[in-house]
Amino acid sequence: SGEQRPRLTFLGTGYLGATYAVCFAELGYEVLGFDVDAAKIATLAGGVVPFFEPGLDEMLQRNLAAGRLRFTTSYQETADFGDIHFICVGTPQRAGGMGADLSHVESAVTGLAAHLRRKALIVGKSTVPVGTAEWVERLVDKHADAALGVEVAWSPEFLQEGFAVQDVLRPSRVVVGVRSDWAGAMLYAAHGGIFDLAVTEDREVPVVVTDFATAELVKVAANAFLATKISFINAMAEVCEVAGGDVTQLSRAIGYDPRIGSRFLHAGVGFGGGCLPKDIRAFQARAQELGAGEALRFLHEVDLINQRRRGRVVQLAAELLGCPAGPVGPYFDDARVAVLGATFKPHSDDVRDAPALAIAAALARAGAEVHVHDPQGMPNAARAQPQLIFEDSLDDAVRGADLVCVLTEWAEFRTADPAHLGRLVAARRVIDGRNCLDAAAWRAAGWQYRGMGSRAGE
Ligand code: UGA
Repeated sequence: SGEQRPRLTFLGTGYLGATYAVCFAELGYEVLGFDVDAAKIATLAGGVVPFFEPGLDEMLQRNLAAGRLRFTTSYQETADFGDIHFICVGTPQRAGGMGADLSHVESAVTGLAAHLRRKALIVGKSTVPVGTAEWVERLVDKHADAALGVEVAWSPEFLQEGFAVQDVLRPSRVVVGVRSDWAGAMLYAAHGGIFDLAVTEDREVPVVVTDFATAELVKVAANAFLATKISFINAMAEVCEVAGGDVTQLSRAIGYDPRIGSRFLHAGVGFGGGCLPKDIRAFQARAQELGAGEALRFLHEVDLINQRRRGRVVQLAAELLGCPAGPVGPYFDDARVAVLGATFKPHSDDVRDAPALAIAAALARAGAEVHVHDPQGMPNAARAQPQLIFEDSLDDAVRGADLVCVLTEWAEFRTADPAHLGRLVAARRVIDGRNCLDAAAWRAAGWQYRGMGSRAGE
């Protein structure tokens, strides 16, 4: 079936577009990746993935070598190459507002549409406010030659950083918002490689074919649900802290109910990253515009609960170190704090809205001398928070520390030997911001241990 497969382009070779381009080439499609950023294109064309994603580098190199995958900065080349064009550009939070900035979507769509010389399908993948697909359709009508009959569809993605290759090749579902049978058939062909793979593995990939608005909403609804689940358990953590309960046990106990489920029910420093925080804000802003603001008012609470967890770590640190309260919060008076973790989660080098880095910066602002170590996130973290001290190893970060804070649950930290670390620090105090350490083992090694969501006095 390889010869009948449509040729695919991915516009925007950031995290989403680059991963998709590489994975679809791996599935056997002829693929072209486009970006306006010439440096990014040169890096990818040279076989280097400009971010950390397990397994993607080798896959990129293999498919470049096989000639199935190429990269360009030319709209004309992209327009001429593709039967289906996927829009994968970023939709960041608008400066000074909560809504999404669609300027990259606009420039990608208009740049492409103006260069099209044959019928093609333009498929939105970026996370966008509901209503964007119709707006993209109007942009296409305005900028593409009407005689070509260019169509638009929407197909959200659900990939998680660190598991992106797996999530693209073996998706939990495929969702497509289409207006015509032709668009549906094209998208079916575009996913043929994924369906074939599922058949060989005796799996099924559920497909939801729907309208534009539903397809757009599926994405933000899924992320809003995940964010709500995390904030729910973090709210229980707040209650446990004052009531003397233990949120880890509570989470296990409610998670055994299959209607609740144990995944995304881990209390800690809360969610971060380039998606959940901005998506719940953009969703609220859009609902407000549509007159359904009340329906999503709870997402404001979800956001506040999440933010409070970061403050809780600072408060715990002050308690453990006996810091005096200043006019705007505790003052850490040069206490040396080791922050373990900078990325928003393990298996990623992404520090966007990372709780770990935000807490490290807050501690530094409050007067602490903060030494940070992260297995993958150091270059990005150093760019984002250059005032912090970055250490190349876990041992260097904790040496001489008055307090150790584990804020991203990397395996290197979870499996670290508390007896060994205990010999390096100035004082054995640890905050387990992810409830990921073996508390009994750390206490046995003489550490004063504090987790999240348990009785303050241990
Ligand atoms: C998230 C969604 O999980 C993906 O399905 C979605 O496709 C993606 O956003 C997106 O919109 O593109 P991602 O941002 O990679 O994926 O990260 P998650 O694995 O969802 O983690 C988000 C944050 O929640 C992390 O900071 C993590 O540490 C935190 N988290 C997660 C918790 O605090 N507790 C949990 O139980 C689970």
